[in-house]
Amino acid sequence: MANKISFSLNGVAMEKYIEPNLLLVDFLRNELGLTGTKVGCGIGECGACTVLINGEPVNSCLTLAVTIDGKEIITVEGLAADKLSPLQEAFIKEGAVQCGYCTPGMLLSTKALLDKNPDPDENQIKEAISGNLCRCTGYAAIVRAVQRAAKELKEKVAE
Ligand code: FES
Ligand code: FES
Repeated sequence: MANKISFSLNGVAMEKYIEPNLLLVDFLRNELGLTGTKVGCGIGECGACTVLINGEPVNSCLTLAVTIDGKEIITVEGLAADKLSPLQEAFIKEGAVQCGYCTPGMLLSTKALLDKNPDPDENQIKEAISGNLCRCTGYAAIVRAVQRAAKELKEKVAE
C-alpha cells in the first residue's frame, strides 16, 4: 500500500503517495522526471546517484523514497536558479566535466562540503569526493574546480 509522505524538493514543498519499496533514485527520475540524478552501479559504489538529504550526501540508489518524509532534498536540478551556481561554473571553467556522468553527484558532494567548510584543503576535498567515481577527469580538475568555487564564494561574501 502506498504511503503518503511530505518533503521539500529543491525548495518546493511536496506531498506524494509512494510505494514502500520504491528507491529514491527511481522516484526522482521516473516519477518526478528529475533525470539529472544518474544511475551508475546501482549498489552504492559510484556516487553517480548522490543527492542531499538535510544537507548530507546520500546514495539515492540505496535509499527508499519513503524515508524522505519530513526531509529536505536537493538534487542537481536545485543548484541552478536563473543561472548556474558558482560551483557549476567552476566545474566548467576548470574542465572538470567530460562525459558528465559523475558530475551531478560530484556537485552535490562538494556543495555539502562547501556549505559546511567554505575553505577546504586539498585532502578535505578529496575526502568529500571519495565516494564519487569519475572515469574521465583523473580528479585533478575536479579538485581545482572546488578550490576555485571556494575562492570565488569567499570573494563574494567579502564584497
Ligand atoms: S548508482 Fe548509486 S552509488 Fe552508484
Ligand atoms: S566526467 Fe566522465 S565520469 Fe566523470
